[in-house]
Amino acid sequence: MILILLGPPGAGKGTQSQRLEKQYGLKQISTGDMLRAEVARQSDIGVQAKTLMESGQLVPDQMIIDIIARRITDKDCENGFILDGFPRTIQQAQSLDALFESQGKAIDHVIELTVDDDAMVKRISGRYTCAKCGEGYHDEFLKPEKDGVCNHCGSTDFTRRSDDNAETVKSRLQEYHQKTAPISDYYKTEGVLRTVDGMAPIDKVTEEMSGILG
Ligand code: AP5
Repeated sequence: MILILLGPPGAGKGTQSQRLEKQYGLKQISTGDMLRAEVARQSDIGVQAKTLMESGQLVPDQMIIDIIARRITDKDCENGFILDGFPRTIQQAQSLDALFESQGKAIDHVIELTVDDDAMVKRISGRYTCAKCGEGYHDEFLKPEKDGVCNHCGSTDFTRRSDDNAETVKSRLQEYHQKTAPISDYYKTEGVLRTVDGMAPIDKVTEEMSGILG
């Protein structure tokens, strides 16, 4: 199965991807995580991406298309994958279609999480992840079962993203509405788009998505 998750920053794409990954055995491919890994190892891509990411702007289309083209041919994608954070422009969506056509693949579902922008600042400023396994948490909405200990791997080391501040979130939301939101119509025309209320509690959102995926 190939699933694309759409939605503004903080909509819950990463949170739901992690759950669906476990439930359906699909590989989560997060372009944000991949770019952050490039920044951490100070590769050429990372150096180019860092300033753009820190100011809340998208990285160039061709850079991310090349990354995705390589990643989806990896062995762990054979049973299907979830694209979390890609595509983000019409050009990326068109390139993905061309790529899939050349590889004999097809999109099964595109799910858009609809949310209120105002609530996203609170979500993003409370977000943190396990530094060891990447499991996502929130200060208020998703706490570990045992305070300060990751549910998934037991680590006590957590991290917060450098672009998770109120000012950068505003630019990220602007970029989303200007460049990414038009993708909904693109996928509506292709007949694969479904929407889910991303303002519902996390478990309810997962339930709704599972209902669509079957
Ligand atoms: P990326 O890492 O993709 O960030 P984003 O799209 O801004 O999305 P987020 O990760 O902030 O939000 P999310 O929807 O995953 O929310 P989450 O589930 O964590 O991209 C970062 C940057 O990389 C971009 O700005 C750009 O520069 C670059 N980039 C990446 N891909 C690119 C591309 N294709 N093209 C060009 N540039 C690209 O949830 C947030 C918090 O809310 C969590 O703490 C969670 O616990 C909580 N939460 C989730 N759901 C709920 C709920 N239903 N109720 C209450 N709380 C909830």
